[in-house]
Parts: sequence; C-alpha cells; structure tokens
Amino acid sequence: MKGIVLAGGNGTRLHPLTLATSKQLLPIYDKPMIYYPLAVLMLARIRDILIISTPNSLPSIQELFGDGSGLGLNITYASQAEPRGIADAFVVGADHVRGDDSALILGDNLFHGAGFPEVLRAAQQDLKGCVLFGYPVTDPERYGVAEVDADGRLLSIEEKPVQPRSDQAITGLYFYDRQVVDIVKDLKPSDRGELEITDVNRVYLEQGQARLVELGRGFTWLDAGTHLSLLEASQYVRILEHRQGVRVACLEEIALRMGFIDPDQCYSKGLELRQSAYGQYVMDIARSLA
Ligand code: G1P
Repeated sequence: MKGIVLAGGNGTRLHPLTLATSKQLLPIYDKPMIYYPLAVLMLARIRDILIISTPNSLPSIQELFGDGSGLGLNITYASQAEPRGIADAFVVGADHVRGDDSALILGDNLFHGAGFPEVLRAAQQDLKGCVLFGYPVTDPERYGVAEVDADGRLLSIEEKPVQPRSDQAITGLYFYDRQVVDIVKDLKPSDRGELEITDVNRVYLEQGQARLVELGRGFTWLDAGTHLSLLEASQYVRILEHRQGVRVACLEEIALRMGFIDPDQCYSKGLELRQSAYGQYVMDIARSLA
C-alpha cells in the first residue's frame, strides 16, 4: 500500500499564523503538525510515502524529513501550486499510487487511540473499494458526513450539509483500492472548482464498495485547521504526554517499534536532538528497546 500526506492549501483560516509558514509545520505542542498524520501512515506499515505541498512549503518539509531513510521510509515530494481539492492528490500522485492500494491522509488530522494499528490493519486487508473512518462530533456540519443503517452499511455521504443526517464526521484518512486514479480522472470539479473527495467516495458508495469504520468512544480525532482546534490539539497532546510520560506521534519511536530502523539508528536520531526533551525521549526509547 502506498501513502500520501496532503499538506497543501494556504491555511487562510489560520492567518496570520500561516502568512509566512506552512500550516502543517505549525507546532502541535512539541512537534510539527505533519508528524501526526505521518505517524498514522507508519502505524499502517506504509513506508512508501508521497508528501504533497505548496511550492513555498515544500523546501521546509523536505528539510524536516529528507528522503525519509532516517525513519526507514521512502519519502518523495510533489508540489501543488493551487489548492484544487483533496481528490487532486490522486492527480498529482497518480504515478505514485498507480496499480496499488493507497492511503491518503490530510496534513492537519490527528488520530490517537489504543488499538489503532489493529484497526488500520483490519481495514487494509482485502481492500475492495474504499474504507472511510467515521467519528462522532458535535459539529458535523463542518465535515463530510456519513449516514449508516442499523447494520453499519453506508447509505449516504454529504459534504458539509446544512442539516446533517448523522453526527458521524468522515475523518481525513481514506483507504482506496487501485481504481481511485481512474475515478478521479473522470471526476468533474465542483461548483467551487475543486475535485472533492466526497465525490470520489460517492462513486464508491454507488458501486456498493464504500465501507465506514466507526472510531468511537475512547478514540481521539482532532483537526487543527482553526486557532481554537490548533490550541485544543496541543492541549490534548500536552496533557497525555505529561501524565503518561509517553510521546504521541514520536516518529523515531514508531519507526523503531515497527522494525523500520534498529535501536542504533534510533539512538543517533535522538542524539541529534539531545538538547530537547523530545531528543532525550528518543534516546531513552532506543536504549530500552536495544
Ligand atoms: C475536508 C473534507 C471533509 C472531511 C474533513 C476532515 O474538509 O472535505 O469531508 O470531513 O476534511 O478533516 P476541510 O477540512 O478541507 O474543510
């Protein structure tokens, strides 16, 4: 399975924070926002990852991850000059995913919860069509919304409906089979001139090939697209990390635990950052798993 992190857009809802920097490089507590979605792909055992961003932001993101080899990944980059909709990721990333299943994740989405790797693995197995991940929220009108019947079958998908048919927001993580490139190729832009991911999902739904995995109670999904949600995401991570002494989305730790790198490689990554508590944590993890 191939991965895409879509870290484009101008982040206008976060102005002036994003006037001079990319939204996905803003901090969520102790690390750049983009660490969180990248962590999700790594937990899904995806190592071949394309990061899509604006021409302005790409050099900084590249500086952060390079070719990904330090994390045992193969990271490549592509530029999206204009925000043309989420589904445009499969136009820009067509060559990257062609002929393979793919996972797309939005660069401002934070997922956290026990057992998540197992949820991801189950969704990846025998992937036919698409798998969406739903999460109950108090403000579904801000999101894509899924309607499911009593048996959990997906009935409808609507983008930012004025009157949502359920409280299930469709999160910014999408698993697709290889059809997605062709589906997006035939897609017409919406009224706002964008290739909408909801329209892609609706094609799968009409084929009876869309599945929703509900991430329920005990799970956390946050997006960080506004000032308040950015602060809330930082607070969430800070409280959890402080209370438990673990780090959420510590990429070096995930790479080590997933077997992408060995303890020595992990330790030297920590050593580079040793002036920070994050670096010390990476070194400690490497020592404890050596
Ligand atoms: C996008 C999608 C929406 C989804 C959301 C998740 O909305 O269009 O369906 O629920 O991401 O973060 P946006 O954040 O671009 O408004």
